[in-house]
Amino acid sequence: MADAKPFYWEYTPEPVTREVFRIDGGVPLRGDVPISGSKNAALKMLAAATLTGERCRFTNVPEIEDVRVMTETLRDLGVVVDHPAPNVYEVASGDVEWLFVPLEAAAKMRASFMLLGPLLSRFGRVIISNPGGDRIGRRPVDLHVEAMRTLGATIEYRNGYYFATAPGRLRGTEVRFPLVSVMGTENVMLAATLADGHTVIRPAAQEPEVDDLIEFLQKMGAEVERTYPDTIEVRGNRRLRGADHRVIPDRIEAGTFVIAGAVTGGSVRLTGAPCDHMTAFLDVLRDTGVGLTCTDDTIEVDGSRLRDSSYRAVDIETAPYPGLPTDLQPPTCVLLTQADGASHVHEAIFEDRLEWLTELNRMGARIDLVDNHRATIRGRTPLRGTEAEIGDLGRRLADPRGARGRRPVDDPRGAPRPAGV
Ligand code: UD1
Repeated sequence: MADAKPFYWEYTPEPVTREVFRIDGGVPLRGDVPISGSKNAALKMLAAATLTGERCRFTNVPEIEDVRVMTETLRDLGVVVDHPAPNVYEVASGDVEWLFVPLEAAAKMRASFMLLGPLLSRFGRVIISNPGGDRIGRRPVDLHVEAMRTLGATIEYRNGYYFATAPGRLRGTEVRFPLVSVMGTENVMLAATLADGHTVIRPAAQEPEVDDLIEFLQKMGAEVERTYPDTIEVRGNRRLRGADHRVIPDRIEAGTFVIAGAVTGGSVRLTGAPCDHMTAFLDVLRDTGVGLTCTDDTIEVDGSRLRDSSYRAVDIETAPYPGLPTDLQPPTCVLLTQADGASHVHEAIFEDRLEWLTELNRMGARIDLVDNHRATIRGRTPLRGTEAEIGDLGRRLADPRGARGRRPVDDPRGAPRPAGV
């Protein structure tokens, strides 16, 4: 186990070190970029490894802060996490000692909530911090919690924590979501692998990372499959075994490098890129006039059109997979500042993902924010260097106890440590 650490009923944000990126622009980017493993797949697999006491081994795991936070959270539970080589992680959850996921983890990373399903299903109880309360953003987890209740769990919310119990096993049933949720689908799927009986999840998210998780679970012996594009069915087992898995490449990282090549009028080759998972995004870029060649797992980006003329304006709308990913909306907006005419942007998934466009205006863009979900970008506008503050980090710098670190209304200081954890 990692060094003994006290529980944090109260989260005190670490002092924020001002991280500055200085970019000297105006340079067409050229070169080869190998694409890393997918963050959104790797984090769920690390959580899924707690479904068994046997060792699981993952390769192609990206070396990023979120993975560090997830592995540290696992170690604090008593899980053994080894990191024998770069991008390789081994997880052994034989002795999980603390069924408690603190606010400290939730505040750093929403994906910590992915531990709800597996810990509850395997151990019958967990206390887990709410990563979606208004103290740290506006992204709720109500769908996850309701779905676990449908599977037979009892869940109470007190002092910023969900106290979840399921004496005996969870019970397989039909889980109907009112909207498509990626982590909601995944959390239920993990819980259902050890539940008693048959679970049907509908509508199930269709993101490639969900299918990668299904593949890993099948290697663990789980009976889980996608029976229709929007339906996942699980037949619960009493035990799962350890398994090895290579994480799929990150389509969001690949898409970001595609834009970096295109928006600088450069020429970039991405290797190990998941072309098949990027169809909607690559179609948008082709519509703007970016030169793209995809062969097997290589994408070549030719941004020469920017030097000769301009890209074309296009209207974009984010949607669950197989639609245009919301995570690629921001870089796509940057590209659209270099397109001739008006591009209309509809961010259909999240309500706070266009706010950052005001920073782009400070760099010379002409963008009208119509409402929380819509913006119009008028191009082509040259962009100039300026000082920009980015989203959450900016708020934390302005007020270190604000936004992410604000003390909750139901201040949990002094709350007794719960029995049994
Ligand atoms: C995941 C991805 C994130 C991506 C998002 C949408 C990870 C770690 N993160 O996030 O990068 O941007 O999918 O593709 O995989 N909602 C609720 N209640 C809930 C859960 C979600 O109302 O309990 C809403 C959200 O506010 C949002 C919509 O459902 O409007 C979809 O969110 P969801 O698919 O759940 O996003 P995440 O799984 O959190």
